[in-house]
Amino acid sequence: MLTKSKLLLLLGFILLFYSCSHYSEDKGKISIGFSQSISEDDTWRKSMDNTMRVEASLHPEVDLTIYNANNSTKNQISDIEKMINNHLDVIIVAPYGSDSIVPVLEKANQKGIPVIIVDRKVNTSNFTAFLGADNVEVGRIAGKYIVSMSKARGNILEIKATTDISPGVERSLGFKQIINQYPNIRKTSITAENLASLNDKFSNVLDSLRNLEYVFAFNDIIALQAWEVAKQKGKEKSIKFIGIDGLNGPDGGIQAVKEGKLKATILYPTGGSEAIRLAIKIANKQAIPKNNKLATVLIDSLNADIMSNQFDKITEQQTNIETQLNVIDSQEKKYITLYNLMKLLGFFSVIIFCLAIFSTYSIISIRKKKRQLEITNKKIHNQRNQIEKFAEKLKISNEGKINFFTGISHEFKTPLTLILSCVESLKEEFKTKNTDVKRDLDIMHNNSMRLLRLINQLLDFRKIENKKFNIKVSKTNLMLFSKNIFKEFEREARKRRINYTITTNDENIEVYLDKNLMDKVYYNLLSNSFKFTPDGGNIEIVIHKNFEKNTVEIKFKDSGIGIPESEIKEIFNPFFKGSNNYKNGSGIGLNLSKSFIDLHNGTIEVKSNVGTEFIVTLPLGTEHLNKKQIIDNYEEDNLNDNYVFEEETEAQEITQELSEKKNTILVIEDNVDLLEFISSKLSVDYKVIKSDGYNAIEKALEVMPDIILCDLNLPEKSGFEICQTLKMNVLTSHIPTIILTASDDQDTYIKSLEAGADLFLTKPFNLKVLRESIKGLLYNREKLRYYYTNNIDEIEVGTLGVIEKEFLNKINILLEKNLDNSTFSVEELASCLNISRVQLYRKVKAVLGIGISDYIINFRLEKSKELLKTTSLNISEIAYSCGFASPNYFSTSFKNKYAVSPKDFRNEK
Ligand code: FRU
Repeated sequence: MLTKSKLLLLLGFILLFYSCSHYSEDKGKISIGFSQSISEDDTWRKSMDNTMRVEASLHPEVDLTIYNANNSTKNQISDIEKMINNHLDVIIVAPYGSDSIVPVLEKANQKGIPVIIVDRKVNTSNFTAFLGADNVEVGRIAGKYIVSMSKARGNILEIKATTDISPGVERSLGFKQIINQYPNIRKTSITAENLASLNDKFSNVLDSLRNLEYVFAFNDIIALQAWEVAKQKGKEKSIKFIGIDGLNGPDGGIQAVKEGKLKATILYPTGGSEAIRLAIKIANKQAIPKNNKLATVLIDSLNADIMSNQFDKITEQQTNIETQLNVIDSQEKKYITLYNLMKLLGFFSVIIFCLAIFSTYSIISIRKKKRQLEITNKKIHNQRNQIEKFAEKLKISNEGKINFFTGISHEFKTPLTLILSCVESLKEEFKTKNTDVKRDLDIMHNNSMRLLRLINQLLDFRKIENKKFNIKVSKTNLMLFSKNIFKEFEREARKRRINYTITTNDENIEVYLDKNLMDKVYYNLLSNSFKFTPDGGNIEIVIHKNFEKNTVEIKFKDSGIGIPESEIKEIFNPFFKGSNNYKNGSGIGLNLSKSFIDLHNGTIEVKSNVGTEFIVTLPLGTEHLNKKQIIDNYEEDNLNDNYVFEEETEAQEITQELSEKKNTILVIEDNVDLLEFISSKLSVDYKVIKSDGYNAIEKALEVMPDIILCDLNLPEKSGFEICQTLKMNVLTSHIPTIILTASDDQDTYIKSLEAGADLFLTKPFNLKVLRESIKGLLYNREKLRYYYTNNIDEIEVGTLGVIEKEFLNKINILLEKNLDNSTFSVEELASCLNISRVQLYRKVKAVLGIGISDYIINFRLEKSKELLKTTSLNISEIAYSCGFASPNYFSTSFKNKYAVSPKDFRNEK
């Protein structure tokens, strides 16, 4: 895969490649150094330097450096040293003298640097090549010219150069070789060390020497200087001057010939161009001759113009070439710039191309990855959906199972109620008899209670799971509470010789407890202790108030098998069973206990070393509780099953009053056994009407019982529905209804109240509690009735139920309408209300405690009382207008009710 780092590496290589291939001017350069001995004031030297420069410029590969020693041998040696040190490819030397520079030339030779000597010779052969014109030949040409032109009678003067330079020596030699062949020619010579001395010397010669025909000078400069001296003496025309060098240009020898100053000049080429060409050859390792001779020629008035023209032409051509070269050079520079720009452009194009490839590649791989991710995502999504479905199924199945267990536990409660009630009844019967039956009954009772606790645990567990527990705490004396439960296990402790104790550091500790829940915690912990403690062992409850922390610790210690260290953390998990526990158990007891303690903001810890110790810590006071959780004992008792009827005396009175006629109770229960059991138990005091739930409402409307006892889970309609329907019906709305259920959770309780139930009893109910509850409700109903009977006039403002109020309102309206109708009967009233006469009777009797006839008469009498008070109608008129058939009947009825006759009543008013 092309990673970012690989891409960068690739780009790096490309950059390197481009930078290496970048056009370079240094490629294949030949470095040539030229040591010029004489300064450029000397035109011949200047010309030599220029021709070198021009020639070098024609070769772009040549890098020429000219060093000028300014007439100093010392300088020249130092310049050559520099060139050696700089490792130049070729060194060209125009020596001043012949000896002084020899050592440095040999040094260059040793270093392997080729050296070209131009013009003057040196006293060593350790150089590569010599370039220059043949000075002996030059001398000969001059000699021959003079000889050919001369009358051969005159005098000839040779002006020599400094003796130790090779051109001077050689020119003089060649000249002599020719002149000496003509004895008639008189030759004199002088040496011109410098121009100043020349003037003097030549002036003397002019003065002393007659018939001076020719002057042959070492070079054109000296020749022209001599001409100047001769001119000063007016002898310039009689003397012919011949020089050497033949430079072109205004101050050169050719111009002097043209002007007639010089008779002739011998071309002595500088060899600048040739020296460069030779150096290039040497640098390019081409074979060259050691001695390279430059051609020379005599220039006089005959060829001066041609030569001058040729030289001009050459100069012009050179200038053209130079211009062209400059153009080429600038073009080349432009080309180089463009070339480099192109390269750069190419480089960036390559980069852009690479980036484009990389981007495309990235996009493709990202898309690929995205697709893969999408597929993976989809897979995960599907898997998640499957897991969710599976979890949902599992939840439903689990829920189903738990509901099944919960349902079955509820179902267990009813038969258990029957068993417990029967056992309790039997126990009551055998209370005083000391028989084996009594012992068996105890066993039955204990085991039924145990079973009941187990069922309750299961239901509590479900409730905790559903977070339906709301604790209701009340102030409790902890020691008394603990002792009560402690006692329950005393018998077993005795039987199994277990040393069983309870101790405290404060007998009066008061804790806010939900007794119902904490009772279960105690039972569970003690049951565990007894389960695992061997006979003859120890179990103790230690209650310790921690004054500092304001908490209380309740320790349950036993000498049982203990819990393995590694399992201690898990024991409060639901369904946990210790690895050393081989006894049966649901595994939810400790979990429930912990949950109940948590609800009290307490903690439970366990220590197990020798035996096991559970430490329950509860906070004291009420700061940790919210106000809604705190109830007083009365409320708590009502919520629990221990309904105690308090106003016993008053109730008894009313019961007595009713005893003449038994109250009717409608028992709605689909469990035939329970229905029979309840019926048989209640039939002593009540007229029991039974319903299996199918015809409950019809039965209730038909019978209009004094009280209804209704199970919750019924086959056709639930207890809530039945209760609600009856409470909505005007005929049955007044009937106190007790809901009997196996569910004791808050929801069921609230629903029961919403349905209009007057009481809520949970199975298994205590028969005594049931009886007292029925009594209580009837008593309350009777109290109300009593009140209404005695306050019949104020029933409108009484505390009747809405339905009852409406019902009585309807009756009152109908009676009002028919107030003067003495024949308006109970039947007519009932038919106007769409109910039967009996139903009307029962309803009014049930609500008000009086018969409907009495109610009608009461109504008419009340109206008559009003009329007596507010009108001046006579008694008869009032009697008839209030529906009494005769004034006498009216007066009798009035007197019976108010103990005063209508007449006296009016008079009193
Ligand atoms: C210039 C010059 C020339 C002459 C040459 C000999 O310095 O004197 O006139 O031909 O040098 O080396």
